[in-house]
Amino acid sequence: MPTTLTINGTSHQVDLPGNVPLLWVLRDALGLTGTKYGCGVAACGACTVQINGEATRSCQVLLEDVDGPVTTIEGLGTPDNLAAIQKAWVANQVAQCGYCQSGQIMQAASLLAEIPDPSDEEIDEAMAGNLCRCGTYPRIRAAIHDAANMIKTGA
Ligand code: FES
Ligand code: FES
Repeated sequence: MPTTLTINGTSHQVDLPGNVPLLWVLRDALGLTGTKYGCGVAACGACTVQINGEATRSCQVLLEDVDGPVTTIEGLGTPDNLAAIQKAWVANQVAQCGYCQSGQIMQAASLLAEIPDPSDEEIDEAMAGNLCRCGTYPRIRAAIHDAANMIKTGA
């Protein structure tokens, strides 16, 4: 029996076994390839999406265990109407190879929803599980501060 998932505000019927990780449902069944596969064992954060607004490693959640609406990088904003966090990422030229960045942005968006003006320490703690082989950590931190300001000032 198909499973109904709400992804980026749209309802989808997914006809896959319940033990398929959400990451592969998103990428292979729904074509939402912005969410990346890095390690498959909750060690890198590349696969981070939001479930019920909480940053979640989609490689670790089975289809049958998804218990709320899912937001992926494709649902945060559109090219014509980027979310503040995406604008801040662009302004700070955060990405290098880019592979980890959708996971970083989804994690950062959850952080800002919980803590609107995080300190450096709060950023480092929240982002610690999202690895970047290109070492973009200083720009990630700067972009999160910028996004917090944009949201605060409505810029
Ligand atoms: S692919 Fe899920 S945490 Fe690395
Ligand atoms: S930008 Fe290359 S891994 Fe993070």
